[in-house]
Amino acid sequence: MKQEVLGIPFFKFDINPDKIEEIAKILTLLPWRENDTNLIWEGVSLDGQGGSDLYKNPDLAYLFDWMQDCMAEVCDEMGIPNKLVCNAAWANLNKKGDWFYDHTHSNCFMSSNYFVSGNSGTTKWYYPNPYYDKSNIWPFNSKDWDDKFNLTHEEPTVPGRYMVFPPTIRHRATPNNGTCDRITVAANWFPTGIINSSGVSHLNIQVIQ
Ligand SMILES: [Fe+2]
Repeated sequence: MKQEVLGIPFFKFDINPDKIEEIAKILTLLPWRENDTNLIWEGVSLDGQGGSDLYKNPDLAYLFDWMQDCMAEVCDEMGIPNKLVCNAAWANLNKKGDWFYDHTHSNCFMSSNYFVSGNSGTTKWYYPNPYYDKSNIWPFNSKDWDDKFNLTHEEPTVPGRYMVFPPTIRHRATPNNGTCDRITVAANWFPTGIINSSGVSHLNIQVIQ
């Protein structure tokens, strides 16, 4: 389902409710490591070898197959003839009090976030407010300047919900003040095959996992 967020097309899907608990159980049992303000799936490696390939976990085949179907709908809506391939995926776990700093997603055309579990904390997006973005006039003096300089949108943690959004839009996970762990899966996508820009400039690329 397409939803205008900050005037930008985001896409929101909800998985089969019967699958929510099963997927959450699989994610909970993954190995995790410290990541400054929260925990991150241990499979993420910093040496560039492997890592970020959570889509290879056979236990999560249902989830990633379903995401693939969602991305096909996104492509239909966006007029993209190519198949999008998941080129990176990982997971974060926020225990009570944990949060995750603002960031964008590199090396992808589309980014996405699947809410696995949790009953608190939000994903919050920040998009430059055009009144201030192209000027140096900031007529405010407050600690929440980031909320004034930007237009913002917060999506509550609804287990089973999947959000697809532009990777260049800055976002963060707000603190988990709830009673259970908040787990999310991030997945990045890139078009494979001939990317044809109206016949003028094309790029023939095979995205492999
Ligand atoms: Fe993210």
